[in-house]
Amino acid sequence: MKMASNAVKFQACTGLLLVAIAICFNGGVVDARRHTEHKQLEFYLHEQFVSEPGYPATDLLAASATGNTSTYAFGNLGISEQVVREGVSNTSTIIGRAPGTFQPNMEERTFALYKLITLQTQEWNGTLVVFCDWLSEAESNEWTVVGGTGTFRMMRGYAINTKAAGGAGTNSITFKWEVFLY
Ligand SMILES: *[C@@H]1O[C@H](CO)[C@@H](O)[C@H](O)[C@H]1NC(C)=O
Ligand SMILES: *[C@@H]1O[C@H](CO)[C@@H](O)[C@H](O)[C@H]1NC(C)=O
Ligand SMILES: *[C@@H]1O[C@H](CO)[C@@H](O)[C@H](O)[C@H]1NC(C)=O
Repeated sequence: MKMASNAVKFQACTGLLLVAIAICFNGGVVDARRHTEHKQLEFYLHEQFVSEPGYPATDLLAASATGNTSTYAFGNLGISEQVVREGVSNTSTIIGRAPGTFQPNMEERTFALYKLITLQTQEWNGTLVVFCDWLSEAESNEWTVVGGTGTFRMMRGYAINTKAAGGAGTNSITFKWEVFLY
């Protein structure tokens, strides 16, 4: 009798475990599907620190409250307008531009960023408004997409940017952007 009840208990536990595994597994599948279903756009943001022939600098220090012109100095305000290209190569087709501002935060090497990502392609013709509290050392950063115009009207979501080329010791840096819209 005791053994039988233990066996029943064991079965009940296995049953629960299987249900738990099934829930976890399904949840993962649903999440993965949701993630890919909502991925709408992929492009590359090309930032040029120092002007080169045919590639003007994309960032400009507009104001410095303290006189410290370091990119990282709190109290500075920068203006930028990066070039949006289809691919990572700096000769890849230009499909838009990304005007915006950058402000170094008090915490070293972090910035408050805002951009108007304006695209003109067969599929997308409009502007996405994006914001980020940006860590410059991070391999990737997440942006909130707060709205848009044109084909982006009423859209919301998020974007992930990842370093794709260039950076320290070069004149430019390129970021891959993946945009998920809802
Ligand atoms: C200027 O700002 C940078 C970045 O915050 C800092 O590392 C540096 O010490 C500052 N320079 C002076 C002279 O305060
Ligand atoms: C363009 O990319 C090539 C290859 O990565 C690089 O050698 C060159 O310096 C880049 N030119 C500019 C202006 O960024
Ligand atoms: C893109 O949108 C603008 C303004 O809404 C419009 O003037 C322009 O003709 C559109 N371009 C294309 C290729 O649809």
